[in-house]
Amino acid sequence: MTLLRVLAYGSAVSTYVLILIGGYVTFSGSGLACPDWPLCHGQIVPPLYGPVLIEYSHRLFTLVVSTFISATTLLAWIRYRRARGILAFSTASFILLVAQILLGMVTVRTELNPVFSTAHLALATGLFGVVLLTAVRVHNMPSGAQPH
Ligand code: HEM
Repeated sequence: MTLLRVLAYGSAVSTYVLILIGGYVTFSGSGLACPDWPLCHGQIVPPLYGPVLIEYSHRLFTLVVSTFISATTLLAWIRYRRARGILAFSTASFILLVAQILLGMVTVRTELNPVFSTAHLALATGLFGVVLLTAVRVHNMPSGAQPH
């Protein structure tokens, strides 16, 4: 399996898992367990228990997703620039990822204002859609396709 496939599939799977964790954050009412951002109770690693552990896992797992999506986009730009669909979708997913992280920050800083909280959910769906499109494009790429 090519590195691009590993990264694109990893982006799709990890984004899906992050959405599940986010749903659990909301469902369990843990959204304000870390009332500040980017730190949590003024600490990089807070004492991990109950709601703090749930909210903190959501933030921490964002790092996994960010690594996969950023690496996919970077590799597309460096080695697969001729595959226009992959380039476009991976770049779009990187832009949506940055917007989603900023929206996560706003959601916390506005103490879960429903407008931002709902926008965070909507953008999560959009991000997953684009990440999935990237993975499908990569999956359908002919196996003998040359990079560049
Ligand atoms: C790729 C990045 C992210 C994705 C895909 C994502 C996805 C989600 C999803 C699907 C929910 C559940 C929303 C609902 O059911 O209404 C959620 C909740 C939440 N997320 Fe994220 N999230 C991301 C990053 C972040 C970041 C970086 C923060 C920063 C603090 C954050 C903060 C929150 C908070 C506070 C909630 C709870 C909102 C509430 O209870 O109203 N998220 N997230």
